[in-house]
Amino acid sequence: MLPSFDMLLFGGTGDLVTRKLLPALYRRHVAGQLTDESRIFGIARSGLERADYQSQAEHACREFLGAEFDADHWRAFATRLDYVRVDADRPQDYGAIAALLAGREAVIRVFFFSTASNLFATISGNLARAGVVTPLSRVVLEKPLGTDVASADLINHAVGSIFAESQIYRIDHYLGKEAVQNLMALRFGNALFEPLWRRGLIKHVQITVAEELGVERRGHFYDDTGALRDMVQNHLLQLLCIMAMEPPASSDPDAVRDEKLKVLRALRPLRDRDVLVKTVRGQYKAGVVGGQPVAGYLDEADIAPESTTETFVALKAEIDTWRWAGVPFYLRTGKRLQSRTTELVVTFDEVPHPIFERPPAPEGANLLVIRLQPEESITLTILAKNPGEGMRLKPVSLALDLGETFKTRSLDAYERLLMDTVKGNLTLFMRRDELDAAWRWIDPIIAGWRQFDERPKSYLAGSWGPAASSALIGRDGFEWHDEI
Ligand code: BG6
Repeated sequence: MLPSFDMLLFGGTGDLVTRKLLPALYRRHVAGQLTDESRIFGIARSGLERADYQSQAEHACREFLGAEFDADHWRAFATRLDYVRVDADRPQDYGAIAALLAGREAVIRVFFFSTASNLFATISGNLARAGVVTPLSRVVLEKPLGTDVASADLINHAVGSIFAESQIYRIDHYLGKEAVQNLMALRFGNALFEPLWRRGLIKHVQITVAEELGVERRGHFYDDTGALRDMVQNHLLQLLCIMAMEPPASSDPDAVRDEKLKVLRALRPLRDRDVLVKTVRGQYKAGVVGGQPVAGYLDEADIAPESTTETFVALKAEIDTWRWAGVPFYLRTGKRLQSRTTELVVTFDEVPHPIFERPPAPEGANLLVIRLQPEESITLTILAKNPGEGMRLKPVSLALDLGETFKTRSLDAYERLLMDTVKGNLTLFMRRDELDAAWRWIDPIIAGWRQFDERPKSYLAGSWGPAASSALIGRDGFEWHDEI
């Protein structure tokens, strides 16, 4: 059972709250983890009645949860759920929040900001003025936090003048995924991989987060943001950190975050012409995804007609440390790609002196593929002897399907992270210095694209991105895993 809490969801009518946060809280309710006293408030500008909000939320949860939705459980859950009309900019609106929270100072308060990050400072200030920030309060900041180092710094400073760093939960939902935790388990729960996890034994690492989805209902946001800020600055860099970090001394939040920070700080900056050579921007054209024709990016709702926002990024990152010098990390993400796949691929070196006949496709071997989505699996491909005469080798796989092995539904990332905020566990949240280091590496890439007027290259929806992405990795003599 979690301690009792009041959770205030700003941006309460938005996509994230209705499609992710409320279903996550509903699931924890069904699991019996919420005390009777715990309450949830959707907060937004629209003039909705409580019943309207509940029915909007019900609709979204039914759709999201499918067969898991249960009308009786929902009725009980809905008694916790209320709506407050607040215009983030209007200090006088916050009186309604103060009234709801009066007398509940001993209960944990979670303020979840699921709005554009340029409102975070205003909301924090208005909450403080309304006198509702207590020592037991926590604030959750949704990504992307800011649009560059400078704007992130201003927001962090403003929020930090009201909440202590130990009260600030900068969320990156990838860190809450079961599969990402499993990656930590694989690396730091087994001694086996550690001696192999370095230059000289690993040739290169690939991190792919591919989506079939387009921009959905988030055209405005996405067109202002683009794939580099939406995905690389946070999710992909966090995956890179977990792959590349040194073993932390303990699982304490700061022990883990210190090690991740060292990776971010050791990333070699991409500057000037490097940006043209080591990054690829793409934008999708109409095509076919999952057998269905889909529109091109420029024809999606709320996208500027001549938009040059990227929906795809591939890049080569290098980490200047003893462990990783000379080992490229190729990162790739995009919308409307061929299939939804999140995977990390580690390619190990071949034997230094082959004594057997070379297999016809040696590049398919010596691979560790850690698949995070849609299914969770770990596959090690090694060379084995082909049965029969002679010593002919062939790649075969040792495959572990984690879903099959454990046969239980794993927690959704937001279920875990919302519980962690209530429990006060910061391990899976980004510290201010981590965020700062991530932006410091991203900013020069954006500056380089601007300096050289680097427009996105087109790719067909349903493909694996622009041809330049294959060329980027091909120049170093490698291929993307799906192209092997
Ligand atoms: C979000 C991005 O952070 O992550 C979205 O803003 C993206 O654009 C989403 O679709 C992907 O998350 P997941 O959990 O579906 O891989």
